[in-house]
Amino acid sequence: MIRCEELVKIYKTADLEVVALQGLDMQVEDGELMAIIGNSGSGKSTLLNMLGGLDKPSAGRLFVDGKDLLAFGEKELVKYKRETVGFVWQNNARNLIPYLTALENVELPILLKGRRRRARAIELLEAVGLGHRLKNKLSELSGGEQQRVAIAIALANEPRLLLADEPTGSLDTKTSEQVLDLFRNLNQTLGITVVIVTHDPLLARKVDRVVQIRDGKTSAEMIRRESYADELARLDAEHLQAEQKSHIEYAVLDKAGRLQIPAGYLDAEGFKDSNKVRVEMEEGRIILYPQEMMP
Ligand SMILES: Nc1ncnc2c1ncn2[C@@H]1O[C@H](COP(=O)(O)OP(=O)(O)O)[C@@H](O)[C@H]1O
Ligand SMILES: [Mg+2]
Repeated sequence: MIRCEELVKIYKTADLEVVALQGLDMQVEDGELMAIIGNSGSGKSTLLNMLGGLDKPSAGRLFVDGKDLLAFGEKELVKYKRETVGFVWQNNARNLIPYLTALENVELPILLKGRRRRARAIELLEAVGLGHRLKNKLSELSGGEQQRVAIAIALANEPRLLLADEPTGSLDTKTSEQVLDLFRNLNQTLGITVVIVTHDPLLARKVDRVVQIRDGKTSAEMIRRESYADELARLDAEHLQAEQKSHIEYAVLDKAGRLQIPAGYLDAEGFKDSNKVRVEMEEGRIILYPQEMMP
């Protein structure tokens, strides 16, 4: 569904350049539910905006659903944004109009007309669990319910890809979990590919794959040992929260052979004192040793 290769984004302002993405590689399979984590300023929103066609990469290659986004003209970009992707933000004020009802908000972006439009809007609100709130004004809904309306809107034109930038950022833990459960549910029932940016490691742990971004590059990947659905069948939800070993962590090795060592590992004895490591191949394993101190 998504293939980014050596993606670069440089923001130029009056007197300074910010390199937000510096050669990012990432792939996402059709039908995947995955999360992107990373510190503030690491380039998560920049990446999501590129994927959503809201901004253009400075260099690299970017394919979504078989389409080359760097080759798009203005018209193709508008069509792409309307038909291929749906977007959910942290701050739902960006998606919603407070004085309209939930139903009216969802009807707005639907391209169908008349009765079919209304029927589709009701269907979408039912799909996100808001069938009982159709006639409520947005301002009468809770934060979690408003975010559900935003998700219904993002689904309005049956996108193949749903992008969510910190969709639970302003919600409490329990509501966040419910919203994440909704994403998983939509992923399973509609087969839609879902990419969620979150800073909450607990939420990230509930998806099958987590990609970590550091300084505009992918630095690590966490892949589930068993699918979340299988694990849920085995454990109850509370037990799962305590479960630490649900994912295996991988460092990302790029095509040029560069590797980012997980932060804590470098605290080990000897690695702090030098910017060189000794590298040896041994029985199919690559071993790093701290540089030997001169006698
Ligand atoms: N429109 C912009 N103009 C200039 N710099 C920007 C702009 N948007 C983001 N940046 C910079 O790019 C870097 C990555 O930002 P962002 O993608 O928003 O990070 P994240 O979402 O991971 O917090 C930051 O250093 C940020 O200040
Ligand atoms: Mg961000």
